[in-house]
This record gives sequence, C-alpha cells and structure tokens, in this order.
Amino acid sequence: MQEDIGRIINELHLYEKKVLKSLESSKSITPEEVVNSQKLDIKSVMSASGSLASKEIIDVQKDVEEILSLSDDGENYAKEGLPERKLLNLLQQEGTVHMKDLGVKSGLNPSDVKIGVGWLVRKQWAKINQGEVNITDKGKEMADNLGEDEKLLAALMEKGQISLDILDHELQQGFKLLKSRKGLIDIDKNTSHTLILTEKGQEILNQGIVIQEEATQLTHKQLKSGEWKNLKYRGYDVKAEYPEFNPGKMHPLRRIIEEIRNVFINLGFNESKGPILESAFWNFDCLFQPQDHAAREMQDTFYIKNPSHSKLPDDILVSKVAQAHQNGGETGSEGWGYLWDKEVARQSVLRTHTTGVSARFLAENEPPLKMFSVGKVFRRETITYKHLPEFHQVEGIVAGDEVNFRNLLGILKEFYKKLGFEVRFRPAYFPYTYLSTECEIYLPEKESWIELGGAGMFRPEVLEPLGIDTPVAAFGLGIERLAMIRLGIKDIRMLYKSDIGWLRKLPITQGVDV
Ligand code: FA5
Repeated sequence: MQEDIGRIINELHLYEKKVLKSLESSKSITPEEVVNSQKLDIKSVMSASGSLASKEIIDVQKDVEEILSLSDDGENYAKEGLPERKLLNLLQQEGTVHMKDLGVKSGLNPSDVKIGVGWLVRKQWAKINQGEVNITDKGKEMADNLGEDEKLLAALMEKGQISLDILDHELQQGFKLLKSRKGLIDIDKNTSHTLILTEKGQEILNQGIVIQEEATQLTHKQLKSGEWKNLKYRGYDVKAEYPEFNPGKMHPLRRIIEEIRNVFINLGFNESKGPILESAFWNFDCLFQPQDHAAREMQDTFYIKNPSHSKLPDDILVSKVAQAHQNGGETGSEGWGYLWDKEVARQSVLRTHTTGVSARFLAENEPPLKMFSVGKVFRRETITYKHLPEFHQVEGIVAGDEVNFRNLLGILKEFYKKLGFEVRFRPAYFPYTYLSTECEIYLPEKESWIELGGAGMFRPEVLEPLGIDTPVAAFGLGIERLAMIRLGIKDIRMLYKSDIGWLRKLPITQGVDV
C-alpha cells in the first residue's frame, strides 16, 4: 500500500496536487475556494477534481439548488389575483352565478373564466349544478384567506427569488399547485460542488506531497545543455482511462477484396474489369453454355428489361461460337447439336459470374498471359447463411503452352494458403472446362464442407472461337464466403448488415496486408 501511495503521488498532475494541498487544513472545500487559494482557473480545478475523484482520492459532492421566480404571467397573477380568486369574490357577493354570466360579472376574459372555474372546482371553493355555480362552505371560508399558491405568489412578488429548499411546508404545497399550472414559475438551477477528502486522500497527504513544476515537453535547449537531468517528470499511468475511439476504417469485405487483389498482383497477374450489365453472349454462349441450359432460366438469372438487348461482338466470333454450339465447328467437338439463336445471345443479363471477363480478355489478348478480375455477380438465389443474391467473385486465367491442370491446382492452393486457408479439391462439372474442380473448406460448426470456388481448363469449344491455341487454366472463387470464414461469422448476411457494434469491434488491420 505504501508503495502504491508513492506511485499514485508520482503520477499526480501538478493541478491535482494543488487541489489536494488545499484540502490539508479542512477536509472539505469548494472549487471556488481552491481557485482563490491556489490561483488556478475554475476549469483546471474542476478537471483536476474530476481526475482525483476517479482515483477515489476525493469525493466531489454535487448540490443542485432550485431557485424560483415569477414568469411574466406569474407576475400578472400575483398583481391581479388568480382567476379563481376573482370568481370567488363574485360568488361571495352573489352566492350563485350562472356560468354564462361569469365573464361579464367578473370582468375576466373567456379563457381565464375557463381556467378560474376549473380551479374553483378543484379547490372545492364552488360546485356547479346545471350551469349554476354555487359557492361552497370552503369557498366562504377562503374568501378572506389566501391559499397556499397565492401565498407563494405574494412571497415571490415581494422577494423576487426564493430557493426551493427553504420553502416551508405550506409554500411547498403552493409550489406544487403553481408548478402544475405551467408557465407561472421560472426555475433556475444553481449547481455547486464540494470537494471532500477521502481516506485514501488523507493517506496521500500524510505521506506528503511536494508542489513542484513538472516538465511536460522538453526543448532542444534543455536536451543540449543537460538541464533535462534535473527536471521533475510526472510518472505515466499506463492504465489511465481513455476515451473510446472509433476511427474510420475500411469495411472488412472491402479489406479482403484488397487483400485478394494484392495476392494476385504479387503473383504477377494483370487486373481486368468487365461490365456488370452483360450480354448472354459473353456470360453464357461464349462459354459453351447451351441456350437451354438450366442456369439460363429466369429463376436463376436476372434478365434486364431496359436495355433488353446488348450488342454482340464481331461477326466472325459470333459465327464461330454459333458453330461450336451447333456442330462443334473447328473445335474437334460435335457441339450441342441444336440451332443456335443470335437473339437469345443478345439478351441483357446481370452477369451471373465473372467468367465472361476472362472470355472478353482472351478475345483481345494473346497468351502467354495471367489475368485476374474482381467484381460483383448476381443470381436469383434464396438467401441462406452461405447464399446471397448479390456477391463478389475473383476470376482468373493463366494461359500459355506449358499450362496444365496441375498448375491450376498449385495456383489455387497457393492463393488460399496466402489467405490462411487449406482447401481440398474435388471433381466438378462446368460446361466450359475439362478437367474441372471445386475447392472446398471444412466448417466445423456446420459439420460440413463449404464450396469456395470452381476451376478448370477451358474447353476447346471455348478457346477455338476466341482464337486461343494454348491451354488456359481458369478459376472463379466466391469472396463473401472467404470473408465469412476469415472473420469468424456464422452467417454471410452479417457482411451487409452494417452492424455498427460488430464493425467497431473488428481490428483495423486484421490479417490484412494492404
Ligand atoms: C462459377 O461461378 C464458375 N464461373 C467458376 C469457374 C470459373 C469454374 C472458371 C471454372 C472456370 P459457382 O457457381 O460454383 O462457379 O460459383 C463460384 C463460387 O461463388 C462458389 O464456390 C461460392 O464460393 C460462390 N457463390 C456461388 N453462389 C453464391 C451465393 N449465392 N452467395 C455467395 N457466394 C456464392
């Protein structure tokens, strides 16, 4: 404890010491007294006091005094009398007056008559019977006496201001009545503080504190001259409370996208982009996806009404794709064996995958090449913990004479490893690749494998029309599912929930090298 006190004293700010010193002679003191005795401004005293209180060295007692005064309306009533008093005077003379005559006979305006009658009844000074207002016994008794509220009005009129604390019982009752009438009494709050030494504070004072200027910032001169050696420094409290700080930061999904981009850039890939509003040609046809393929159905794909049709690329490419579908053309394949329809290929869709970007890139670039692309894709999906109707994919291709399926597995393995995942591959089917595979990862909490991406070697039916004569390894990987596992969330929807509490708690740089 002794050592503790020593440490506490060492960490006290000069102003805290000054406040504490003022409490040496009397155990309680007001901040204003500290201002006078220590020549500090009130703000410094209050802030030092708050800090001492948080360390339980002093208590800061707060007293709020309520000061009552009359508003303009209140002053009018105090001078003129309350409306019910005027009506009582009238009833005192006449005993009974009909409601409709009250205004004329009392000289009150209709609104004051209404207020006055209400209070006459509430105070039991009168009773109303079939429109007749009759004075009661209590009314007769009060005709020559002031009510509690009227006494307070008179007192406030005379004194201007009265503290609520000093009102006697009768005036307290009067205050309750007047307060309920709204707008008659103004209440000002006077807050005062008292600083009271605690036992811990007393122990600190017993040990003794020295008031001495402390160095907070060193100057070049102090350092050069060696003067710094003789200065007094205040100890740091590394456990001191600090205000909560919520700096702006990148959304975790965006951060993972940036991380993924970095991985591919570092692996020597070029980045490409493609349109979100795509033609069925690039999204499906050019990928040897037959025009009656289930994935093209309205229940899987969003078709766009406006513009309902998109432009097709040059005739040569279109005709080669048509041949590939119909009879295989020059691809060495038999094709799908149906009549390919240009109009179906012209339909506008929200792209269902980013693989169209790879097809577009291959149409314009010659191998050897390495390309990746990140973008949003859209599918008519039922939303589940792992399905969204709108999500991101990262797509990539590697084209070159020596490229083979084994290389593709190596690239994917390396990519996932860099992100901290170990994936397994299993055989899969895509109309545009052969061999094909899907990468999966095990989710212990769901006790199941979750699919992260698809990949394969583009088929000749895809490559020949595009004019590519080297093997092309291709992949398309879901990003939200990666993010979900990486962030340890159980539901993919969390990524789009804007849950500010969750977002704030996420570390700024969690596992991301951007
Ligand atoms: C494709 O989209 C293929 N184009 C991938 C591909 C590219 C194969 C190139 C071969 C060559 P798939 O439909 O399986 O494949 O989607 C790829 C990944 O996107 C999935 O593994 C999954 O991680 C993610 N994904 C698919 N649907 C959803 C969804 N509704 N919500 C979130 N992520 C999804």
